[in-house]
Amino acid sequence: MSKVILITGASSGLGEQIATYLACKGYQVYGTSRSIESQTKPFKTLNMDVCDSMSIQNALERILKESGRLDVLINNAGLGIAAPLEYLPIDEFQRVMDTNLMGSLRTIQAVLPTMRKQQKGYIINISSIAAEAGLPFRGGYSASKSALDRLTETLRLELTTYGVQVCSIQPGGVKTDINKNRVKAKLADDNIYKQDFDRTYQMIDESVDQGISADVFGPLVGSIIESPSVKRIYRVGKPLEKLSVLLKRILPESTYERMIRNHYKL
Ligand SMILES: NC(=O)c1ccc[n+]([C@@H]2O[C@H](COP(=O)([O-])OP(=O)(O)OC[C@H]3O[C@@H](n4cnc5c(N)ncnc54)[C@H](OP(=O)(O)O)[C@@H]3O)[C@@H](O)[C@H]2O)c1
Repeated sequence: MSKVILITGASSGLGEQIATYLACKGYQVYGTSRSIESQTKPFKTLNMDVCDSMSIQNALERILKESGRLDVLINNAGLGIAAPLEYLPIDEFQRVMDTNLMGSLRTIQAVLPTMRKQQKGYIINISSIAAEAGLPFRGGYSASKSALDRLTETLRLELTTYGVQVCSIQPGGVKTDINKNRVKAKLADDNIYKQDFDRTYQMIDESVDQGISADVFGPLVGSIIESPSVKRIYRVGKPLEKLSVLLKRILPESTYERMIRNHYKL
């Protein structure tokens, strides 16, 4: 029997690529987002807002009614945010946390009773390499993804005996619509951070525009959901992005921070 898969944020980017790949491999895929067009996708679509518990419940009920089970949850819905922390708009930060962190947790809580009953399931949280470090002007985003990785760690410990496997995928820059959808601080021209922020923001945009293709994530997820033993983290990115995580671990703190400040000319 082919696995039944729920993926959040499947209207574009990584989510759409993963859902398309898995559907083409014969899995029963339900791709969801706040506004997803059914006609154009090769997988089943459902409207679901991860910030709204009722909407999650409705989507899940529909899947269980149609398919009778749920084998895989991919928490992919997410938003970027960039601002100097001094000027990070709290309401916007709450929206990002509500989507990236609480949205994932809401969906996990909704699917777990089914997966525990089945004694089998996979939960894949789409995190980010940015979870590994507090990068300049991306503190809000890094915090949301670091917190998501902590949930992954805890869930692995809590769920092993119930047959549910949990992991994080940490992408580096990937060419998607994330630049377009990112929440960006509006700084006045005379704001002290303005120059540094604008320059760094351009680098953030470039890391996505020159990022890897989203195509690699479908095969990766495909291999994870057929694996009897899932790793905690799958890091996917350019060699330099992955190296930065290693350097943070092995270099003296002051050397690492100087390296990052030099990189961003701060
Ligand atoms: N691109 C990168 O460089 C990169 C790097 C590391 C990690 N990531 C992570 O990868 C994931 C996918 O991002 P992407 O790059 O593919 O960006 P994207 O193209 O902007 O896709 C984001 C998806 O999330 C959905 N979404 C946003 N808010 C939602 C909500 N409240 N409820 C349900 N769906 C919601 C959007 O659909 P609707 O607007 O239709 O709801 C869209 O389908 C995110 O978690 C992101 O943080 C991306």
